[in-house]
Amino acid sequence: MSLPEPRLIDPATVPSLRWGILGPGWIADQFASTVRANTTQRIVAVASQTPGRARAFASAHDIPVALSRYDELVERDDVDAVYIANLPSGHHDAAMLAINAGKHVLIEKPLTQVIAQAESIFARARARRVLAMEAMWTRYLPQVDVARQLLDAGAIGAPRLVLADFCQDNRSLERMWRKGDGSPLWDMGIYPIALCQMVFGEPDLLDVRAIVREDGLDAETTSYLGYANGARATFTVSGVVDVPAHALIAGDEGVIEFGQPFFAPSRVGLAGKGFNSPMAYWVDESGIRGHGGLAYQVNAFADYVGRGLLESPLQTHEDSLACLRVASALAERFGLDGS
Ligand SMILES: NC(=O)c1ccc[n+]([C@@H]2O[C@H](COP(=O)([O-])OP(=O)(O)OC[C@H]3O[C@@H](n4cnc5c(N)ncnc54)[C@H](OP(=O)(O)O)[C@@H]3O)[C@@H](O)[C@H]2O)c1
Repeated sequence: MSLPEPRLIDPATVPSLRWGILGPGWIADQFASTVRANTTQRIVAVASQTPGRARAFASAHDIPVALSRYDELVERDDVDAVYIANLPSGHHDAAMLAINAGKHVLIEKPLTQVIAQAESIFARARARRVLAMEAMWTRYLPQVDVARQLLDAGAIGAPRLVLADFCQDNRSLERMWRKGDGSPLWDMGIYPIALCQMVFGEPDLLDVRAIVREDGLDAETTSYLGYANGARATFTVSGVVDVPAHALIAGDEGVIEFGQPFFAPSRVGLAGKGFNSPMAYWVDESGIRGHGGLAYQVNAFADYVGRGLLESPLQTHEDSLACLRVASALAERFGLDGS
């Protein structure tokens, strides 16, 4: 049994966009490093509302312009696209600034915890004819393209069951425990939710068991999603224990299993029908590891801009909204009110 090769975008064939970054923190640092190493994109400006941070980030990544105001960055004529990398409660306002200035936007996940804000971002972007894309980077990874080809070719028959876990002891990560910005379900759970959405679409029923902290945030959740055709998904998300992040898709004729962690470059395996059938693998040997994998979504973004697309074909606006609706509905079940 051999697995297909991923259909990769050649970074040399996409427009070399001029990027600005808003909110240069941890993920923006990963982004800037892989953009330089693995793409033909250019980062021309950075803005931070925290005194001194833009200057320090600019000098670490050799970025010519450092600013202390987001509006100054989005108004610049030498910026084509803006990477919104601040915390989720700030995504809407930052994205609207950039969109209103006519810039394409790549917005970190989760897009926002308030669904009405996500809807208004997408509506405004469509009206201004700019690309707006949630940075659900996993969807653009080579291993996910291999899995997508396997699903499309019917390699596992009809998909019936997704099992996925994302459990990481994030008790010392301050932003994880800020209402409106964090919550393990919203922050980490959006990955298994997005995987389920990619495979099955939107669920018809959902349920969750949660360990809820005194402040109302989830320490740990186990969620169940059910679909009209009988398919189902289960995922556990914990912010207090470490577990290898596995994910698999089982169907009538076989199973697809991602390497760990399933949301970063690793590998994907395929086994045929039968309990414990031998597995054939496609292994990511690109040398791009961890958050270096953000480069794939950046290349895809530039490709879409070059093609005049207003949304990602791999995660449409409606796909992003569907994921937010699931997170919101699950969170509501244990009393965490987003929108
Ligand atoms: N794709 C991934 O694998 C991945 C991994 C980690 C995080 N993320 C996502 O990326 C986004 C940023 O996460 P991060 O870890 O990079 O965050 P971070 O380093 O803690 O902060 C990023 C920026 O958010 C703003 N910020 C931070 N704390 C704030 C506060 N208390 N009040 C107001 N603004 C604050 C600051 O913007 P200014 O500089 O303008 O002040 C900061 O530079 C989140 O949406 C997160 O879910 C994605």
